Amino acid sequence: MGMKLPLLNKKVLITAGPTREAIDPVRYISNHSSGKMGYAIAERFITAGAEVYLVSGPVSTHINPHSRLRIVQVISAADMYLACCQFFETVDIAIFSAAVADYRPEKISPRKIKKEEDSFTIKMVKNIDIAYEFGKIKTTDQLSIGFALETNDEVTNAMHKLARKNFDIVILNSLNEANAAFGVDTNKITILQKDLTQVDFPTQSKKQVAEDILSVTCNLYNETKRMVAEVL
Ligand code: CTP
Repeated sequence: MGMKLPLLNKKVLITAGPTREAIDPVRYISNHSSGKMGYAIAERFITAGAEVYLVSGPVSTHINPHSRLRIVQVISAADMYLACCQFFETVDIAIFSAAVADYRPEKISPRKIKKEEDSFTIKMVKNIDIAYEFGKIKTTDQLSIGFALETNDEVTNAMHKLARKNFDIVILNSLNEANAAFGVDTNKITILQKDLTQVDFPTQSKKQVAEDILSVTCNLYNETKRMVAEVL
């Protein structure tokens, strides 16, 4: 049973999907994230016995979530951050798989913008970096896992992201790979850890990727717990 439910009684927070940043009542800025990776991870962690809180941006209804999954639906990055604040302190593991919009329009027009001008400019301001904020308050009992989507100097950039956001593990998605990342059912990842270990995986289903993320997470979690036990 210990093997089958390695995360029994553990609480896990997962962010997934894109965010939408409103321009006016009918328009927004977003990205191509389907949420499939985050939902696959949530599913796998649930069956490993964890209590999973999934904070999800707007995703297609084609995804049929597990009945035990606690889902909080959000729209914008600001909403996603506020929803995560309700859970972060109580969770053992946090997985930041959402494709959060880095910027939002500075002002949301209360009325639909009319096409009066030949061109117009939207001024964008920086959104809160959810993973970075929680990285600052993470305790030694908590593990956090982030994603990095890179097109160049992938490993170096991903390692910088790990350090900056205080992640224990970074899942690197390369946009150079065919059949990887947005919208598709497969993904090609490299798992990087704080101790500089690097494991490359072949292109595989997002279900299998979730399996690999679970196994790396459980190994690290058990190691961390053993170290805490030795200190006590
Ligand atoms: N992330 C987050 N909140 C944001 C932006 C990113 O929580 N506002 C998280 C993502 O969920 C992911 C990780 O941070 O786990 C990396 O996101 P990415 O967009 O690749 O990194 P950025 O910090 O935005 O860096 P850049 O866009 O410059 O590569």
